[in-house]
Amino acid sequence: MPPGSEARTDPRTAVLETERLVLVRLSKDDARFLLELLNEPSFLRFIGDKGVRTEADARLYVETGPLASYERFGFGLWRVELKESGEPIGMCGLLKREALPDVDVGFAFLPRFWSKGYAFESASAVLAHARDALGLKRLLAITAPDNAPSIRLLEKLGFRFERMAQVPEDGPEVKLFGLTGPAEPMGPA
Ligand SMILES: CC(C)(COP(=O)(O)OP(=O)(O)OC[C@H]1O[C@@H](n2cnc3c(N)ncnc32)[C@H](O)[C@@H]1OP(=O)(O)O)[C@@H](O)C(=O)NCCC(=O)NCCS
Repeated sequence: MPPGSEARTDPRTAVLETERLVLVRLSKDDARFLLELLNEPSFLRFIGDKGVRTEADARLYVETGPLASYERFGFGLWRVELKESGEPIGMCGLLKREALPDVDVGFAFLPRFWSKGYAFESASAVLAHARDALGLKRLLAITAPDNAPSIRLLEKLGFRFERMAQVPEDGPEVKLFGLTGPAEPMGPA
């Protein structure tokens, strides 16, 4: 096996590392964690109901969502875990949706891990990865119009509100944010 080939398929290989966090690929072993995250009232309210009610549903979600995205684009939503304990706390990453012309950033964390700067820390690393490793010049983000914590985070990351949009086309109205050019949320590269 050529060197490095394992790194592309082993879900435990770190995609990104920050001071306190490690981002790795999600796998079907994350079913229990995802069952909890996807049914958090905040997730259901601000992101939507993925219809995941059992661990089997969660495994199917991983297969058709994140795993399909890694396979097709080389990126997707990643599992964010605490470096110290390996405990999963949320997901953060990049999505390419049919309804949007550019890649968008997404994030969701379990409420007990909010207000510690973890979302900012992981999203900053994801933005740097999008720019430096993937060469993406422009990123988007969408939020429910009343998702104040998410909007605050996007603005801290350097995103600017552009317009209202419907994603998907027949879906609810969302705020569309854009980030063009070098974003330096963590200081000079
Ligand atoms: C959106 C979401 C990820 C934001 O999480 P968050 O924890 O508020 O975001 P941050 O990581 O930026 O943390 C910011 C807070 O941490 C505090 N903080 C503590 N330690 C910090 C540190 N070391 N560095 C930075 N901030 C720190 C900040 O002061 C700030 O506090 P505040 O919330 O009282 O203003 C979270 O609300 C969530 O998961 N929501 C549900 C899913 C969702 O809506 N996703 C977005 C869909 S578009």
